[in-house]
Amino acid sequence: MRKPFDYSWIVFAVIIVVVIFAYKPVMNAIQKARQPKEGSDYMVGKEIFYNPSEWGPENRSCAMCHAKDYTLSPNHSKVEMEEFTYVELKNVKRKFGVGIIGNPDKLLAQVNRCLSSPRRIDGGRINFGNSKWEPLLAYLVRQ
Ligand code: HEC
Repeated sequence: MRKPFDYSWIVFAVIIVVVIFAYKPVMNAIQKARQPKEGSDYMVGKEIFYNPSEWGPENRSCAMCHAKDYTLSPNHSKVEMEEFTYVELKNVKRKFGVGIIGNPDKLLAQVNRCLSSPRRIDGGRINFGNSKWEPLLAYLVRQ
């Protein structure tokens, strides 16, 4: 009896070829989709983070202590906050447990710590209802 022709290697070869040719366009599309868009919470949050007059007191931004490419307010030649120092923001999402099932309480408390201290921003406190919180959160969890 003749053995039936085995097509499985053809199927396998076709899958390999498809994967090879589809890989780049698919990865590019994923990359593009992940890129923050103009007007997104992330971008608004970034502006809030870098703005040296966002919180009331002049020449005080989150970026001054947490980014190296901060900008000063006009008419100021240096950062004037008492606790001015560089603290890198890294793995914020994991460190503060803010995921889909996480809870942002701890992160908000930390933000308010930086925000309210007279030796830092001295800009009062925000709560979850503040319109700056969602964008700021979107920016912070990507650090
Ligand atoms: C004058 C310096 C300064 C400014 C301005 C500042 N921070 Fe901070 N930030 C710190 C320091 C110092 C720490 C380390 C923990 C602490 O002492 O609170 C910190 C910690 C943090 C952390 C936790 C980092 C970690 O890895 O644990 C977050 C998040 C954060 N700041 C967010 C902000 C945001 C948002 C703003 C603006 C509203 C801001 N900070 C403004 C000094 C500052």
